[in-house]
Amino acid sequence: MTAAREDQTTTSTLLTEAPAAPAPTVGAQIGARAEAEAGAALAFPPKFIWGAGTAAYQIEGAAADDGRGPSIWDTFSRTPGRVRNGDTGDRAVDHYHRYEQDVALMAQLGLRAYRFSVAWPRIQPDGRGPVNQRGLDYYRRLVDCLLDHDVEPWITLYHWDLPQALQDLGGWPQREVAERFADFAQLVYGALHDRVHTWATMNEPWCSAFLGYGSGRLAPGVQDPHQALRAAHHLMLGHGRAITAMRAIDPGNHLGITLDFNPAVPASGDPADVDMARQVNGLRNRFFLDAILRGAYPADVLRDLERFTDLAHLRDGDQAVIGMPIDLLGVNYYNRALVAAGPPGTGTGTEAGAPMLEFPGAETAVFVPQEDRPRTARGWPVDPDGLYDLLLWLHREYPPMPLAVTENGAAFDDYADPEGQVHDPDRISFLDGHFRAAQRAIAEGVDLRGYFVWSLLDNYEWEEGYSKRFGLIYVDYPTQQRVLKDSAHWYRQVIARNGLDGQR
Ligand code: GCO
Repeated sequence: MTAAREDQTTTSTLLTEAPAAPAPTVGAQIGARAEAEAGAALAFPPKFIWGAGTAAYQIEGAAADDGRGPSIWDTFSRTPGRVRNGDTGDRAVDHYHRYEQDVALMAQLGLRAYRFSVAWPRIQPDGRGPVNQRGLDYYRRLVDCLLDHDVEPWITLYHWDLPQALQDLGGWPQREVAERFADFAQLVYGALHDRVHTWATMNEPWCSAFLGYGSGRLAPGVQDPHQALRAAHHLMLGHGRAITAMRAIDPGNHLGITLDFNPAVPASGDPADVDMARQVNGLRNRFFLDAILRGAYPADVLRDLERFTDLAHLRDGDQAVIGMPIDLLGVNYYNRALVAAGPPGTGTGTEAGAPMLEFPGAETAVFVPQEDRPRTARGWPVDPDGLYDLLLWLHREYPPMPLAVTENGAAFDDYADPEGQVHDPDRISFLDGHFRAAQRAIAEGVDLRGYFVWSLLDNYEWEEGYSKRFGLIYVDYPTQQRVLKDSAHWYRQVIARNGLDGQR
């Protein structure tokens, strides 16, 4: 808990006390590392929150059930050429109809918590106006089912599925959408605040803004960096307004946001590369983080942006709204970037190999392939030390804040063998490495409360459709049959012993 929130009674069963982390003495640090190196058992703090995550559009299906309206993802996925194989989330993994079976699987794994998102167009099909009761009732049933199975629900209010009607008004680049989001947050929180005690307003606002409106790789597929910047600010404003509205209803829960971090490391000591890393880190990571935890966008980033666009959409008083105290920061981590400054036109945006204009300056930002690292099926480098460094950086550079890793995981080319089993040793080794990195960070004093593997189930991987499998649980899409992968069995043991054994 932050100092500002210590006076409030909280009903959360899992987040009430700071877990007893080992004392961050030099001796303990050396001890922890030596133990890891010797392959001894690694324990996590008592009450550590082991979980898994999903997002509504990626798993629910039932796109037209119970009065759900269309979202930008329905539109985008139906637009030829946007999503691999033309896949849509119409059926996804049919979780809307199979949630009871899926919650039973969570209980079988021993998950202490489950992170999921609420589809705004189920609650308000047009993005405004009264609640669609049938849509809300689905989430009540899901929450009740989780509680019956002793799995704590963690709700994310917005995981990218903006009602299409609000995009028709201009979407996140329009200030009004922030107000509509706060209304939506109020409706859901008002209905579930007594049973759900941990809430995130947004998931990865950087992706919504810069991939949704900058590169256009994600819905709504707009390619205009000026609009991306407006979207970024209004997502932040929506976050702040939602936090204020939710606190007014019930201040006793843990409210926060999930940000995604892609730390940029300069490819060389050349000042141009170092400055490019500063720029990329600035917009990619510090922009959102500083606004939330320090109450102001970073001055160097604003200076970079002023050269490129006017910032007339920033109004007096907005920063105070955005900087409302929160109780928990969700950290999504997949990898780091190695960046260099290149001649204009040689840049690749924030993902190597896919030219895209995501941010001002991207045309000179070169993302250097990290040939020496293993890669996942997404093509992402495997870099557990990046998680350790990120957690330490947050701990050292920012005001004290309880953290949870709300997403970390990997896609691999999983398949069911003739015996119906799914062997995914690469995922086990990926998670093992990242859990160890998190444990080292905890041993050095980082206040990390939980860890959510992405993802519970194989699912709709956005512009990659169903081609990338991130699940602990395999889904045979034609039959919708679920199979626990080896990694799921392994994770069950990690949770049961609250740590890792000596084997790597
Ligand atoms: C994201 C989203 C998830 C993704 C996952 C793997 O980070 O892009 O939060 O919905 O599916 O990260 O790409």
